[in-house]
Amino acid sequence: MGKSGKKQKKKQERRSRRDFKINDSDDGGEDGLGESINLPSEEDEEENEETEDDEEEVVEDESVEKGRTDCPSKFHLYQESVQSPKGDISYLQKFFLMYVGGRTPLHLQEDFCGTALLSTEWLRSDPRRTAVGVDLDLEALTWCFENNINKIGADACSRISLFHGNVLQPMEAKLVKYDLQDLVKNATINESKGCLDSAPEDTTKAQCSDSAGNELTENSPLPARDIVCAFNYSCCCLQKRKDLILYFEHVHRALSRKGGIFVMDVYGGTSSEQKLRLQRKFPNFTYVWEQAEFDIIRRTTRISLHFKLHKQQWKLRHAFSYSWRLWSLPEIKDCLEEAGFQSVHFWIRRMPDTREMKNSIGLSAGRNVKYEELSTFQQQDAWNAYVVGVAK
Ligand SMILES: C[S@@+](CC[C@H](N)C(=O)[O-])C[C@H]1O[C@@H](n2cnc3c(N)ncnc32)[C@H](O)[C@@H]1O
Repeated sequence: MGKSGKKQKKKQERRSRRDFKINDSDDGGEDGLGESINLPSEEDEEENEETEDDEEEVVEDESVEKGRTDCPSKFHLYQESVQSPKGDISYLQKFFLMYVGGRTPLHLQEDFCGTALLSTEWLRSDPRRTAVGVDLDLEALTWCFENNINKIGADACSRISLFHGNVLQPMEAKLVKYDLQDLVKNATINESKGCLDSAPEDTTKAQCSDSAGNELTENSPLPARDIVCAFNYSCCCLQKRKDLILYFEHVHRALSRKGGIFVMDVYGGTSSEQKLRLQRKFPNFTYVWEQAEFDIIRRTTRISLHFKLHKQQWKLRHAFSYSWRLWSLPEIKDCLEEAGFQSVHFWIRRMPDTREMKNSIGLSAGRNVKYEELSTFQQQDAWNAYVVGVAK
């Protein structure tokens, strides 16, 4: 990427929580600097309506992105606007020490990992650490090798295993193999060119291994996991109760017999059950979270993420689109307990009011608000929660 270590550090500090809706600053304990919300102008509101009608144009936008060399990839934009791996790791460690304790958590599994940024950061944090990532999207996994894993050095590369597959069928997931020498070579070339990303669409360099021992089975040589996590509301991708329980059973089996935790996040509040559009300005682009109507019978909605690139004057609409079921906290707790988890804990924080965000400049409410373990919490306009399942 051609950025100096100093610049990288500054960016890390400024990068705020992965939260899709607002991405408020939160580093799990250390202070972070927040970013301001860009208020929707009338022009934006008009554009809002336009967006809803232009599904066909969307496809065009995405394919244009693939051919362009002057634009960062959608994965790069996503990581910049949505993720905050240091904050997540800080909370993961805290939860592990609180509910299991007695040892340092070393082995992480990141389910629904996408570009596995969290796993990459996990490996950096301790040379003994290992990470396993699982995702259905081979393009995201390949991008991870070429843009995240290539930056952590050969030793750390050897401590991560990415699997291409469905979290509901972990036995079928295949280890993705990538030539390490290629990675190091490409990283050097990209550094000297100052490129933003490698070509994200080129999945041919990554190969899914069919050999025995390269699956995510119980007999695999991978160490039992201390922590399994599913972030950025990924469990909402599972829409049936029986699937959620099946998934939690697989997680329970992957955790260490010495004790381990599962951590997922979820969002809610009155604003989450209606149409909503929020946007946030970053130095080079604006990130837009768009929520479609909410079906109160199936508790489902569609979330779309759009990006507007300032310099290029170009919009990447529907860069990511998800069809989600918004699980309630008690539903999640029941499913975790049915899957065998011994106890379930809720860590919640109130998020800035989405109505105020439309009427005031900047983001003050909610900034630096920490998560708290709670057993009751009155409904708000918006909140975010970590749900921690403990297996002992
Ligand atoms: C909301 S994104 C989250 C990505 C990443 N965890 C993060 O924190 O940003 C959801 C991810 O889950 C993946 N996914 C959805 N359903 C899945 C499934 N059944 N098994 C594995 N991955 C799945 C998608 O490909 C996508 O990368």
